[in-house]
Amino acid sequence: MTQINVLVIDNDADYRKSLAEGLLASEEYEVFEAGGPGEAREILEKELIHLAMIDIRLNDDEDPGDRSGLELAEEIDPVVARILLCEYPPGGIAPGGAFNKTLIPADDRFAEVYFVSKQEDLFVMAEVVERALKEEFEITPVQRVAVLAEGGDAPGMNAAISSVAKVAMHNGVEVMGVEDGFRGLVEDRMRKLRWSSIRDIMGRGGSILGAGRYPKFKNPRIRGKAVDNLIHKKISGLIVIGGVNAMEGARNLAGDMEARGKTLNTVAIPGTINNNLWGTDISVGAASTTDAMIQQIKKVHALADAMRRVFLCKAMGRYCGFLALRSALGSGAQAVVIPERCVETYPSGEDDPGSWIRRVNIRDTVNNGLAHLGEIGRILQKTFASGKRSGFIVVSEAIEILSEGDLDMAKMRKRLEDEIERWKLPNRPDVRIYDLGHAVRGVAPCDLDVWLATRLGAAAVHCLLDGKTNVMVGRIEERGIVDTPFEEVIRMSNRSPAEVWTDRPKWRELYDLHEALIYPLGMRHRLKARRNRFLK
Ligand code: F6P
Repeated sequence: MTQINVLVIDNDADYRKSLAEGLLASEEYEVFEAGGPGEAREILEKELIHLAMIDIRLNDDEDPGDRSGLELAEEIDPVVARILLCEYPPGGIAPGGAFNKTLIPADDRFAEVYFVSKQEDLFVMAEVVERALKEEFEITPVQRVAVLAEGGDAPGMNAAISSVAKVAMHNGVEVMGVEDGFRGLVEDRMRKLRWSSIRDIMGRGGSILGAGRYPKFKNPRIRGKAVDNLIHKKISGLIVIGGVNAMEGARNLAGDMEARGKTLNTVAIPGTINNNLWGTDISVGAASTTDAMIQQIKKVHALADAMRRVFLCKAMGRYCGFLALRSALGSGAQAVVIPERCVETYPSGEDDPGSWIRRVNIRDTVNNGLAHLGEIGRILQKTFASGKRSGFIVVSEAIEILSEGDLDMAKMRKRLEDEIERWKLPNRPDVRIYDLGHAVRGVAPCDLDVWLATRLGAAAVHCLLDGKTNVMVGRIEERGIVDTPFEEVIRMSNRSPAEVWTDRPKWRELYDLHEALIYPLGMRHRLKARRNRFLK
């Protein structure tokens, strides 16, 4: 059976000792002692306490008006079973203090609190302890887990935090919320999540726990501090919300704990707007950000029409073209420039996940990008010739990052302008760069993200309860909610965009759909005949 932690709070040290040695002296219980409310609060903050036995008068035993114990019992989180120790004659045991209506307020606050006379013998006391614990926990295994958000924030992270906390509490598991990702674990900044701390957060953007990147966590010495804190706080499970870095950090931490003879089970919830993770069709945050990007693009539609303009819209998404592609599709943009189609890498014999970034063939990537923009310029000519006054091209930020600036937005604009110069049309449009920016990440989550985050949050807790570790929960259309080992997610996500593209038929379908929606059939045939490599 799980060890039960009991906190005895009484200003009388002898009485505390008598309970600890007489009643609770067994392997089943670990006893903590506090002489007053302040000391008790400190212990409750740090330890996973299952039962608090509280003297009703903590300040002055002689003062009949002293309500300090009652007040403390009211303040303690109701997940902790509570027994109030009173100075009544023996014989009265009742939840809610039903036998003393003069002192105990007759409302729900104490309905689950046991009141027992300090003069009862140890057998009666033992029975009360057992009853209080049974009713509170039904003696389910109780553990303490932590949750954190690592990496860039993503809409829906709060819904995931809320779901993790609620489902965990429902299962008798206590949840510590860690501030600012792994950094908070190292700096020991965590707090117990209660119903009150997660109230009304599901629909809020950002993360109530903060988020952030903490590269120093790769250093085992730095992680050592997190291990100390986890051991001290008796945390046996960790749920990380984030991407590949979050999973690598969690996996390494679990290994460090094992080396210290402790177990830390770790589960990840995919939380990144980039949607670049293997093991899930979509990660928490991607749908809301896509919606926000579409809205952002639409905001300049009227302006573009009025001014006869082409906008090159720069999209976030890191090395993954998903956001650019989806927002192009959703906003009716004429073209999309994504790394999956433009970025070339040199071959490599080594099997080092992530090494593709060092193997980017910048020259070919730049040439591909420029050629693609030339084609886009020619397509736009047709649409402008048929009466259109505006044009939208969504460009993934990956092109700029991976070409190390050799093909930045300004160069893309120049290429497009050169192409437009050649048009044989009287009114040629001018080109503007439009960075969709961070505003699309900080939005409130859409319903799809709240729903996804809620389901994945629950699934993550269930994984921990089932003893699973080093797995990411995700949603795959044909299979529903699944869990995939970290190793597989990390290895398969850390490949070049083109390699990922090969294994993601659904994303390729999206690209084809985008083309089908924007190119008239005749133009597709002509482009194909000219062996346009960007058309399928
Ligand atoms: O990982 C999420 C993300 O928004 C990427 O799409 C983008 O490249 C990066 O974070 C931006 O980071 P920051 O918020 O630090 O500027």
